[in-house]
Amino acid sequence: MAHQLSFQLLLPLLLLLTETCVVDMATGSSWTARLGMNRRSLMSHEDDTLLPPEFVTYFYTQTLDHFNYKPESYTTFQQRYIMNSKYWGGANTSSPIFVYTGQESDITQVVSFAGFVVELASRFNGLLIYIEHRYYGDSMPFGSENEAFQNATTLGFFSSTQALADYAQLIIDLKRNLSAENCPIIALGGSYGGMLASWFRLKYPHIAFGALASSAPILYFDDITPQNGYHVIVSNDFRDTSESCYDTIKQSWSEIDKVAAESNGLLKLSQIFTTCQPFNYSREVRDNIEIRYIAAAQFDNPPDNPVSKVCNAIDGAPPGTDILGRVVAGFNASFGDVPCHHVHDFEPSNKDGWTWQVNI
Ligand SMILES: *[C@@H]1O[C@H](CO)[C@@H](O)[C@H](O)[C@H]1NC(C)=O
Ligand SMILES: *[C@@H]1O[C@H](CO)[C@@H](O)[C@H](O)[C@H]1NC(C)=O
Ligand SMILES: *[C@@H]1O[C@H](CO)[C@@H](O)[C@H](O)[C@H]1NC(C)=O
Ligand SMILES: *[C@@H]1O[C@H](CO)[C@@H](O)[C@H](O)[C@H]1NC(C)=O
Ligand SMILES: *[C@@H]1O[C@H](CO)[C@@H](O)[C@H](O)[C@H]1NC(C)=O
Repeated sequence: MAHQLSFQLLLPLLLLLTETCVVDMATGSSWTARLGMNRRSLMSHEDDTLLPPEFVTYFYTQTLDHFNYKPESYTTFQQRYIMNSKYWGGANTSSPIFVYTGQESDITQVVSFAGFVVELASRFNGLLIYIEHRYYGDSMPFGSENEAFQNATTLGFFSSTQALADYAQLIIDLKRNLSAENCPIIALGGSYGGMLASWFRLKYPHIAFGALASSAPILYFDDITPQNGYHVIVSNDFRDTSESCYDTIKQSWSEIDKVAAESNGLLKLSQIFTTCQPFNYSREVRDNIEIRYIAAAQFDNPPDNPVSKVCNAIDGAPPGTDILGRVVAGFNASFGDVPCHHVHDFEPSNKDGWTWQVNI
């Protein structure tokens, strides 16, 4: 299933990896901030209905604030989790419980692409639990997204530390309900969810017997890894695939800037790249092209192999095609066959959970 999803569905994961590294030279805002809108539009509550029947949705009455004794700390909210007991050996056999520590997305999205955890459950007769991260999807404190994102008072409860404590409380309660106290908990997650899984094991070793952090940049923080580390890897992906493709892309930026500086240059670039909406400022052009390369590298899975696809288009353009023509061919290849290309609006949103989490 996973490989059939377009990278756009997975784009939320991408945001994590750009969080600490890419600062927009022009505005000083981070990439993640400007990608916020895009991520939100990917969240769809209708996805629930697409899940196979063995994935059952529950809501748990969760504590708002795990770290204070103020009256408002005892406020609760409904936290969504999804359980699949199809493979479970049962409490009496001490079969494992795999807990997916939900990340920056609607939990139903995770369920629909994380096929590997189902394989694990089937192999080890495990119970599968996917817990939604607070302030995402249907797990909104204060009753609604509008209320939850109101101001610093309501957003102050939105942290990974609180999220980990949510997982701890829910898991303990669920184990009790299932009389499954003897079943080992294995925390699992990908990307930010993987960071959470590893942190969960570190902070709650009495609850998690083990953790699996997949594609999780657990040390990707300022002053630990090189600031441009993410982009160096993206560039190397292209270079390893095709040196000429890498060179063409490298040379294209000054070509793009040259056209952008002309009168009506932005309009011209919108036409060259066949965007559905006109570009409004030159940074938007670069950002929109860059995000295609980034996404291709981050989700460079078979059978699509998007990096090869883009490079084949760039290298395979008819002889004599100029640099811009070549990157247009690559840009097209990254979208597939569509009449025009929907570009991202990189304006930051003050209602975006991920923006809040990475800029705090
Ligand atoms: C599990 O063990 C308990 C206690 O021995 C027993 O009462 C219960 O019926 C068992 N459950 C199953 C599903 O075998
Ligand atoms: C946030 O909004 C709530 C509800 O309107 C209000 O009671 C609270 O004082 C506000 N907090 C801040 C910091 O503005
Ligand atoms: C455990 O059972 C209680 C009582 O039915 C219920 O209120 C609670 O939500 C359950 N816990 C979980 C994690 O589902
Ligand atoms: C790119 O795609 C657009 C929109 O489908 C199309 O009009 C244009 O001819 C394509 N250009 C190249 C070089 O493939
Ligand atoms: C340019 O601005 C218009 C109006 O705000 C907007 O609809 C359009 O999406 C913007 N273009 C891009 C590429 O974001």
